[in-house]
Amino acid sequence: MKAMVVAGARPNFMKVAPILRALGGAGEEGILVHTGQHYDTQMSDAFFRDLGLPEPAYHLGVGSGTHAQQTARVMEAFEPILVDIRPDWVVVVGDVNSTLACALVAAKLKPELGSAVAHVEAGLRSGDWRMPEEINRVLTDRIADLLLTPSRDAHPNLLAEGIPADRIVFVGNVMIDTLLAQLSVAQRLDMPGRLGVRPNEFALVTLHRPSNVDEPAALRAVLEALAEIATQMPVVLPLHPRTRKNADAFRMADLLARLHVTEPVGYTEMLSLTSSAAVVLTDSGGLQEETTVLGVPCVTLREQTERPITLSEGTNRMAPWPLTATGVRAAFDEALSDGRVGVGERVPDGWDGRTAERVVSALRERSGFKAQPSGGPASKSLNDKNL
Ligand code: UD1
Repeated sequence: MKAMVVAGARPNFMKVAPILRALGGAGEEGILVHTGQHYDTQMSDAFFRDLGLPEPAYHLGVGSGTHAQQTARVMEAFEPILVDIRPDWVVVVGDVNSTLACALVAAKLKPELGSAVAHVEAGLRSGDWRMPEEINRVLTDRIADLLLTPSRDAHPNLLAEGIPADRIVFVGNVMIDTLLAQLSVAQRLDMPGRLGVRPNEFALVTLHRPSNVDEPAALRAVLEALAEIATQMPVVLPLHPRTRKNADAFRMADLLARLHVTEPVGYTEMLSLTSSAAVVLTDSGGLQEETTVLGVPCVTLREQTERPITLSEGTNRMAPWPLTATGVRAAFDEALSDGRVGVGERVPDGWDGRTAERVVSALRERSGFKAQPSGGPASKSLNDKNL
Protein backbone atom coordinates (compact mmCIF):
# COMPACT_ATOMS: atom_id res chain seq x y z
CA MET A 1 0.00 0.00 0.00
CA LYS A 2 1.40 3.34 -1.07
CA ALA A 3 0.21 6.39 0.86
CA MET A 4 1.23 9.92 0.02
CA VAL A 5 1.09 11.92 3.24
CA VAL A 6 0.82 15.69 2.94
CA ALA A 7 2.12 18.26 5.42
CA GLY A 8 2.34 21.97 4.80
CA ALA A 9 2.09 24.11 7.87
CA ARG A 10 3.21 23.94 11.47
CA PRO A 11 0.14 22.21 12.94
CA ASN A 12 0.43 19.39 10.37
CA PHE A 13 3.85 18.09 11.28
CA MET A 14 2.92 16.47 14.62
CA LYS A 15 -0.07 14.81 12.93
CA VAL A 16 1.83 13.19 10.06
CA ALA A 17 4.79 11.96 12.14
CA PRO A 18 3.00 9.03 13.84
CA ILE A 19 1.12 8.12 10.64
CA LEU A 20 4.37 7.85 8.67
CA ARG A 21 5.80 5.72 11.45
CA ALA A 22 2.77 3.44 11.52
CA LEU A 23 2.98 3.00 7.76
CA GLY A 24 6.00 0.85 8.35
CA GLY A 25 4.52 -2.54 7.40
CA ALA A 26 6.14 -4.66 4.72
CA GLY A 27 4.84 -3.78 1.28
CA GLU A 28 3.82 -0.38 2.58
CA GLU A 29 5.24 2.95 1.69
CA GLY A 30 4.60 6.33 3.26
CA ILE A 31 5.66 9.12 0.94
CA LEU A 32 5.96 12.49 2.64
CA VAL A 33 5.13 15.61 0.65
CA HIS A 34 5.95 18.99 2.25
CA THR A 35 4.15 21.78 0.44
CA GLY A 36 6.36 24.45 2.00
CA GLN A 37 3.41 26.56 3.19
CA HIS A 38 5.54 27.14 6.29
CA TYR A 39 9.24 27.46 5.59
CA ASP A 40 11.03 29.33 8.41
CA THR A 41 13.45 27.27 10.46
CA GLN A 42 11.30 27.69 13.56
CA MET A 43 8.00 27.12 11.76
CA SER A 44 9.11 23.99 9.90
CA ASP A 45 12.67 22.62 10.24
CA ALA A 46 12.53 22.58 14.04
CA PHE A 47 9.52 20.26 13.82
CA PHE A 48 11.23 17.85 11.46
CA ARG A 49 14.15 17.68 13.89
CA ASP A 50 12.04 17.32 17.06
CA LEU A 51 9.66 14.76 15.62
CA GLY A 52 12.26 12.67 13.82
CA LEU A 53 10.41 13.22 10.54
CA PRO A 54 12.13 11.86 7.43
CA GLU A 55 13.28 14.25 4.71
CA PRO A 56 10.23 14.87 2.53
CA ALA A 57 10.29 12.86 -0.68
CA TYR A 58 8.94 16.00 -2.35
CA HIS A 59 9.18 19.62 -1.25
CA LEU A 60 6.88 21.92 -3.20
CA GLY A 61 8.33 25.17 -1.81
CA VAL A 62 5.13 27.20 -2.24
CA GLY A 63 5.74 29.74 0.56
CA SER A 64 3.41 32.55 1.60
CA GLY A 65 0.84 34.43 -0.46
CA THR A 66 -2.86 35.17 -0.60
CA HIS A 67 -5.15 32.19 -0.04
CA ALA A 68 -5.75 31.86 -3.77
CA GLN A 69 -2.05 32.07 -4.61
CA GLN A 70 -1.02 29.61 -1.92
CA THR A 71 -3.77 27.10 -2.72
CA ALA A 72 -3.18 27.37 -6.47
CA ARG A 73 0.59 26.96 -6.13
CA VAL A 74 0.16 23.82 -4.04
CA MET A 75 -2.28 22.39 -6.57
CA GLU A 76 -0.05 23.10 -9.53
CA ALA A 77 3.02 21.66 -7.89
CA PHE A 78 1.25 18.61 -6.41
CA GLU A 79 -0.54 17.44 -9.56
CA PRO A 80 2.44 16.16 -11.59
CA ILE A 81 3.82 14.34 -8.56
CA LEU A 82 0.53 12.60 -7.96
CA VAL A 83 0.31 11.59 -11.61
CA ASP A 84 3.83 10.25 -11.44
CA ILE A 85 3.49 8.29 -8.18
CA ARG A 86 -0.17 7.16 -8.37
CA PRO A 87 -0.41 6.28 -4.69
CA ASP A 88 -3.29 4.24 -3.33
CA TRP A 89 -4.03 7.00 -0.85
CA VAL A 90 -3.48 10.70 -0.48
CA VAL A 91 -3.60 11.32 3.26
CA VAL A 92 -4.29 14.92 4.27
CA VAL A 93 -4.49 16.18 7.84
CA GLY A 94 -6.11 19.14 9.59
CA ASP A 95 -7.52 22.24 7.96
CA VAL A 96 -4.80 24.34 6.38
CA ASN A 97 -4.71 25.53 2.76
CA SER A 98 -2.37 22.66 1.79
CA THR A 99 -4.95 20.15 3.09
CA LEU A 100 -7.69 21.31 0.76
CA ALA A 101 -5.36 21.94 -2.19
CA CYS A 102 -3.99 18.38 -2.28
CA ALA A 103 -7.37 16.79 -1.56
CA LEU A 104 -8.88 18.69 -4.48
CA VAL A 105 -6.14 17.65 -6.92
CA ALA A 106 -6.51 14.00 -5.92
CA ALA A 107 -10.32 14.00 -6.03
CA LYS A 108 -10.35 15.43 -9.56
CA LEU A 109 -7.80 12.88 -10.78
CA LYS A 110 -9.40 9.91 -9.06
CA PRO A 111 -11.23 8.55 -12.11
CA GLU A 112 -7.91 8.54 -13.96
CA LEU A 113 -5.44 7.54 -11.24
CA GLY A 114 -7.56 5.75 -8.64
CA SER A 115 -5.82 7.50 -5.74
CA ALA A 116 -8.32 7.93 -2.91
CA VAL A 117 -8.32 10.75 -0.34
CA ALA A 118 -8.27 10.14 3.40
CA HIS A 119 -8.83 13.11 5.71
CA VAL A 120 -7.41 12.80 9.20
CA GLU A 121 -9.18 15.11 11.69
CA ALA A 122 -12.42 15.06 9.72
CA GLY A 123 -15.70 16.45 10.96
CA LEU A 124 -14.61 19.34 13.18
CA ARG A 125 -16.82 22.39 12.69
CA SER A 126 -16.75 25.90 14.12
CA GLY A 127 -19.77 27.00 12.09
CA ASP A 128 -17.87 30.19 11.27
CA TRP A 129 -17.48 30.63 7.53
CA ARG A 130 -15.24 33.67 8.01
CA MET A 131 -12.46 31.31 9.08
CA PRO A 132 -10.44 30.01 6.13
CA GLU A 133 -9.91 26.79 8.10
CA GLU A 134 -13.69 26.17 8.27
CA ILE A 135 -13.93 26.39 4.48
CA ASN A 136 -10.96 24.04 4.18
CA ARG A 137 -12.52 21.54 6.61
CA VAL A 138 -15.96 21.41 5.02
CA LEU A 139 -14.70 21.17 1.45
CA THR A 140 -12.03 18.59 2.25
CA ASP A 141 -14.59 16.40 4.02
CA ARG A 142 -16.99 16.74 1.10
CA ILE A 143 -14.49 15.33 -1.40
CA ALA A 144 -12.66 12.80 0.80
CA ASP A 145 -13.30 9.07 0.35
CA LEU A 146 -12.47 8.24 3.94
CA LEU A 147 -13.18 10.55 6.87
CA LEU A 148 -11.16 9.72 9.96
CA THR A 149 -12.54 11.52 12.99
CA PRO A 150 -10.72 12.60 16.15
CA SER A 151 -13.75 12.58 18.47
CA ARG A 152 -17.30 11.23 18.40
CA ASP A 153 -18.87 14.69 18.18
CA ALA A 154 -17.55 14.93 14.61
CA HIS A 155 -19.96 12.22 13.39
CA PRO A 156 -23.24 14.14 13.68
CA ASN A 157 -21.54 17.11 11.97
CA LEU A 158 -20.66 14.95 8.96
CA LEU A 159 -23.97 13.11 8.83
CA ALA A 160 -25.83 16.44 8.91
CA GLU A 161 -23.93 17.44 5.76
CA GLY A 162 -25.07 14.29 3.97
CA ILE A 163 -21.77 12.39 4.14
CA PRO A 164 -22.54 8.65 3.93
CA ALA A 165 -21.93 6.90 7.25
CA ASP A 166 -19.83 4.20 5.65
CA ARG A 167 -17.14 6.71 4.75
CA ILE A 168 -16.70 7.82 8.36
CA VAL A 169 -14.39 6.02 10.77
CA PHE A 170 -13.62 7.06 14.33
CA VAL A 171 -9.88 6.82 14.97
CA GLY A 172 -9.17 9.30 17.79
CA ASN A 173 -6.76 12.19 17.97
CA VAL A 174 -3.48 11.57 16.17
CA MET A 175 -1.80 14.63 17.66
CA ILE A 176 -1.99 12.99 21.06
CA ASP A 177 0.14 10.11 19.76
CA THR A 178 2.96 12.59 19.31
CA LEU A 179 2.29 14.38 22.58
CA LEU A 180 2.43 11.21 24.67
CA ALA A 181 5.53 9.97 22.83
CA GLN A 182 7.41 13.23 23.40
CA LEU A 183 6.24 14.24 26.87
CA SER A 184 9.11 12.89 28.94
CA VAL A 185 11.72 14.29 26.51
CA ALA A 186 9.93 17.65 26.67
CA GLN A 187 9.82 17.70 30.44
CA ARG A 188 13.57 17.05 30.63
CA LEU A 189 14.18 20.12 28.44
CA ASP A 190 13.07 22.44 31.24
CA MET A 191 12.10 25.33 29.00
CA PRO A 192 10.67 27.34 31.91
CA GLY A 193 14.09 27.21 33.62
CA ARG A 194 15.79 28.31 30.39
CA LEU A 195 13.46 31.29 30.12
CA GLY A 196 13.91 32.14 33.79
CA VAL A 197 10.31 31.42 34.86
CA ARG A 198 9.11 28.92 37.46
CA PRO A 199 7.00 25.86 36.54
CA ASN A 200 3.30 26.35 37.28
CA GLU A 201 3.85 30.04 37.89
CA PHE A 202 3.63 31.50 34.41
CA ALA A 203 1.00 32.01 31.73
CA LEU A 204 1.71 30.74 28.21
CA VAL A 205 0.16 32.47 25.22
CA THR A 206 -0.09 31.85 21.49
CA LEU A 207 -1.81 34.24 19.13
CA HIS A 208 -1.94 34.17 15.36
CA ARG A 209 -5.54 34.05 14.03
CA PRO A 210 -6.21 36.79 11.50
CA SER A 211 -9.43 37.68 13.40
CA ASN A 212 -7.29 38.52 16.45
CA VAL A 213 -4.06 39.81 15.04
CA ASP A 214 -5.07 41.56 11.81
CA GLU A 215 -7.54 43.75 13.71
CA PRO A 216 -5.83 46.52 15.72
CA ALA A 217 -8.65 46.74 18.31
CA ALA A 218 -8.69 42.98 18.96
CA LEU A 219 -4.91 42.74 19.16
CA ARG A 220 -4.77 45.70 21.53
CA ALA A 221 -7.45 44.18 23.81
CA VAL A 222 -5.54 40.91 24.13
CA LEU A 223 -2.13 42.52 24.58
CA GLU A 224 -3.51 44.91 27.23
CA ALA A 225 -4.98 41.96 29.16
CA LEU A 226 -1.66 40.13 28.89
CA ALA A 227 0.30 43.17 30.07
CA GLU A 228 -1.96 43.30 33.12
CA ILE A 229 -1.62 39.57 33.81
CA ALA A 230 2.14 40.08 33.57
CA THR A 231 2.00 42.20 36.73
CA GLN A 232 0.79 39.04 38.53
CA MET A 233 2.90 36.33 36.84
CA PRO A 234 5.27 36.14 33.87
CA VAL A 235 3.56 35.79 30.49
CA VAL A 236 5.51 33.77 27.91
CA LEU A 237 4.59 34.47 24.28
CA PRO A 238 6.35 32.62 21.45
CA LEU A 239 5.46 35.01 18.68
CA HIS A 240 4.07 33.90 15.30
CA PRO A 241 5.56 35.86 12.36
CA ARG A 242 2.14 37.25 11.38
CA THR A 243 1.57 38.60 14.89
CA ARG A 244 5.05 40.10 15.13
CA LYS A 245 4.58 41.92 11.83
CA ASN A 246 1.22 43.33 12.87
CA ALA A 247 2.25 44.36 16.38
CA ASP A 248 5.07 46.36 14.79
CA ALA A 249 2.80 47.86 12.14
CA PHE A 250 0.15 48.82 14.74
CA ARG A 251 2.83 50.27 17.07
CA MET A 252 2.12 47.94 19.98
CA ALA A 253 5.71 47.12 20.78
CA ASP A 254 5.35 48.81 24.21
CA LEU A 255 2.74 46.20 25.22
CA LEU A 256 4.88 43.32 23.97
CA ALA A 257 7.83 44.67 25.94
CA ARG A 258 6.05 43.73 29.19
CA LEU A 259 5.90 40.04 28.21
CA HIS A 260 8.48 37.27 27.79
CA VAL A 261 8.39 37.31 23.99
CA THR A 262 10.37 34.62 22.18
CA GLU A 263 10.77 33.46 18.59
CA PRO A 264 8.35 30.64 17.64
CA VAL A 265 9.59 27.52 19.45
CA GLY A 266 9.95 23.92 18.26
CA TYR A 267 7.56 21.12 19.18
CA THR A 268 9.38 19.73 22.19
CA GLU A 269 10.15 23.18 23.56
CA MET A 270 6.49 24.12 23.26
CA LEU A 271 5.36 20.92 24.94
CA SER A 272 7.81 21.60 27.76
CA LEU A 273 6.23 25.03 28.24
CA THR A 274 2.62 23.87 27.86
CA SER A 275 2.97 21.02 30.31
CA SER A 276 4.32 23.33 33.01
CA ALA A 277 2.17 26.44 32.47
CA ALA A 278 -0.29 27.58 35.13
CA VAL A 279 -2.71 28.69 32.41
CA VAL A 280 -2.57 28.71 28.61
CA LEU A 281 -4.29 31.47 26.61
CA THR A 282 -4.53 30.71 22.91
CA ASP A 283 -6.33 31.01 19.61
CA SER A 284 -4.77 27.78 18.32
CA GLY A 285 -6.84 24.66 17.76
CA GLY A 286 -4.15 22.18 18.71
CA LEU A 287 -3.35 23.76 22.05
CA GLN A 288 -6.96 23.40 23.18
CA GLU A 289 -6.52 19.65 22.74
CA GLU A 290 -3.02 19.44 24.16
CA THR A 291 -3.96 21.33 27.34
CA THR A 292 -6.92 19.00 27.80
CA VAL A 293 -4.65 15.94 27.79
CA LEU A 294 -2.07 17.66 29.99
CA GLY A 295 -4.72 18.83 32.47
CA VAL A 296 -3.69 22.47 32.12
CA PRO A 297 -6.46 25.11 32.23
CA CYS A 298 -6.88 26.84 28.86
CA VAL A 299 -8.60 30.06 27.79
CA THR A 300 -9.54 30.11 24.12
CA LEU A 301 -9.35 33.55 22.54
CA ARG A 302 -11.92 32.96 19.81
CA GLU A 303 -15.60 33.49 19.18
CA GLN A 304 -16.24 29.76 18.96
CA THR A 305 -14.31 26.52 18.80
CA GLU A 306 -14.43 23.61 16.38
CA ARG A 307 -13.21 21.50 19.29
CA PRO A 308 -16.14 21.75 21.76
CA ILE A 309 -15.17 18.42 23.27
CA THR A 310 -12.31 20.24 25.02
CA LEU A 311 -14.95 22.37 26.77
CA SER A 312 -17.23 19.50 27.78
CA GLU A 313 -14.60 16.84 28.48
CA GLY A 314 -11.44 18.86 29.01
CA THR A 315 -9.89 21.91 30.62
CA ASN A 316 -10.84 24.52 28.03
CA ARG A 317 -13.05 27.61 28.43
CA MET A 318 -13.96 30.38 25.99
CA ALA A 319 -13.04 34.00 26.71
CA PRO A 320 -16.12 36.24 26.48
CA TRP A 321 -16.63 37.54 22.95
CA PRO A 322 -15.91 40.12 21.59
CA LEU A 323 -12.54 40.06 23.28
CA THR A 324 -11.91 42.90 25.72
CA ALA A 325 -9.04 43.38 28.13
CA THR A 326 -11.42 42.93 31.09
CA GLY A 327 -13.07 39.84 29.61
CA VAL A 328 -9.77 38.10 28.89
CA ARG A 329 -8.49 39.00 32.35
CA ALA A 330 -11.64 37.58 34.01
CA ALA A 331 -11.41 34.33 32.01
CA PHE A 332 -7.75 34.02 33.01
CA ASP A 333 -8.65 34.47 36.70
CA GLU A 334 -11.30 31.75 36.49
CA ALA A 335 -8.95 29.38 34.69
CA LEU A 336 -6.25 29.98 37.29
CA SER A 337 -8.63 29.23 40.11
CA ASP A 338 -9.76 26.00 38.37
CA GLY A 339 -6.18 24.78 38.67
CA ARG A 340 -4.58 21.84 36.95
CA VAL A 341 -5.64 18.20 36.87
CA GLY A 342 -3.34 15.22 36.29
CA VAL A 343 -2.04 14.29 32.84
CA GLY A 344 -4.60 12.10 31.08
CA GLU A 345 -7.02 12.32 34.01
CA ARG A 346 -9.94 13.57 31.91
CA VAL A 347 -9.57 12.88 28.21
CA PRO A 348 -11.98 12.19 25.38
CA ASP A 349 -12.28 8.67 24.02
CA GLY A 350 -9.52 7.69 21.58
CA TRP A 351 -6.98 10.27 22.70
CA ASP A 352 -4.77 7.45 23.82
CA GLY A 353 -1.59 7.52 21.76
CA ARG A 354 -2.71 4.76 19.36
CA THR A 355 -4.58 6.72 16.73
CA ALA A 356 -1.99 6.34 13.95
CA GLU A 357 -2.33 2.54 14.16
CA ARG A 358 -6.08 2.90 13.69
CA VAL A 359 -5.56 5.31 10.79
CA VAL A 360 -3.33 2.81 9.00
CA SER A 361 -5.70 -0.10 9.74
CA ALA A 362 -8.57 1.89 8.24
CA LEU A 363 -6.50 2.64 5.12
CA ARG A 364 -5.62 -1.03 4.73
CA GLU A 365 -9.15 -2.27 5.27
CA ARG A 366 -10.67 0.18 2.83
CA SER A 367 -8.24 -0.65 0.11
CA GLY A 368 -8.35 -4.39 0.58
CA PHE A 369 -4.76 -4.52 1.81
CA LYS A 370 -3.49 -6.72 4.57
CA ALA A 371 -0.17 -5.92 6.21
CA GLN A 372 2.20 -8.49 4.74
CA PRO A 373 4.65 -10.32 6.91
CA SER A 374 8.25 -9.25 6.24
CA GLY A 375 9.44 -10.50 2.89
CA GLY A 376 5.89 -11.39 1.84
CA PRO A 377 4.35 -10.49 -1.49
CA ALA A 378 3.58 -6.86 -2.18
CA SER A 379 0.06 -5.51 -1.84
CA LYS A 380 -2.72 -6.10 -4.33
CA SER A 381 -2.72 -4.03 -7.45
CA LEU A 382 -4.74 -0.85 -7.73
CA ASN A 383 -7.33 -2.48 -9.93
CA ASP A 384 -8.26 -4.98 -7.25
CA LYS A 385 -9.46 -2.30 -4.93
CA ASN A 386 -12.95 -1.22 -4.29
CA LEU A 387 -12.70 2.25 -2.84
C1 UD1 B 1 -1.63 28.80 8.87
C2 UD1 B 1 -2.97 28.06 8.82
C3 UD1 B 1 -3.59 28.04 10.22
C4 UD1 B 1 -2.63 27.48 11.23
C5 UD1 B 1 -1.33 28.30 11.18
C6 UD1 B 1 -0.30 27.86 12.17
C7 UD1 B 1 -4.26 28.28 6.71
C8 UD1 B 1 -5.43 28.91 6.11
N1 UD1 B 1 -3.93 28.73 7.94
O1 UD1 B 1 -1.90 30.16 9.20
O2 UD1 B 1 -4.74 27.24 10.19
O3 UD1 B 1 -3.18 27.55 12.52
O4 UD1 B 1 -0.82 28.19 9.85
O5 UD1 B 1 0.78 28.70 12.11
O6 UD1 B 1 -3.67 27.40 6.12
N2 UD1 B 1 5.18 33.36 7.69
C9 UD1 B 1 6.54 33.40 7.87
N3 UD1 B 1 7.21 32.21 7.90
C10 UD1 B 1 6.60 31.01 7.73
C11 UD1 B 1 5.20 30.99 7.54
C12 UD1 B 1 4.52 32.17 7.53
O7 UD1 B 1 7.12 34.46 8.02
O8 UD1 B 1 7.28 29.97 7.77
C13 UD1 B 1 4.43 34.64 7.70
C14 UD1 B 1 4.22 35.18 6.32
O9 UD1 B 1 4.31 36.56 6.40
C15 UD1 B 1 2.81 34.80 6.00
C16 UD1 B 1 2.15 34.83 7.37
O10 UD1 B 1 3.17 34.41 8.28
O11 UD1 B 1 2.24 35.66 5.09
C17 UD1 B 1 0.98 33.90 7.49
O12 UD1 B 1 1.34 32.57 7.06
P1 UD1 B 1 0.25 31.60 6.38
O13 UD1 B 1 0.84 30.27 6.12
O14 UD1 B 1 -0.39 32.31 5.23
O15 UD1 B 1 -0.87 31.49 7.47
P2 UD1 B 1 -0.79 31.29 9.04
O16 UD1 B 1 -1.31 32.52 9.67
O17 UD1 B 1 0.54 30.79 9.50
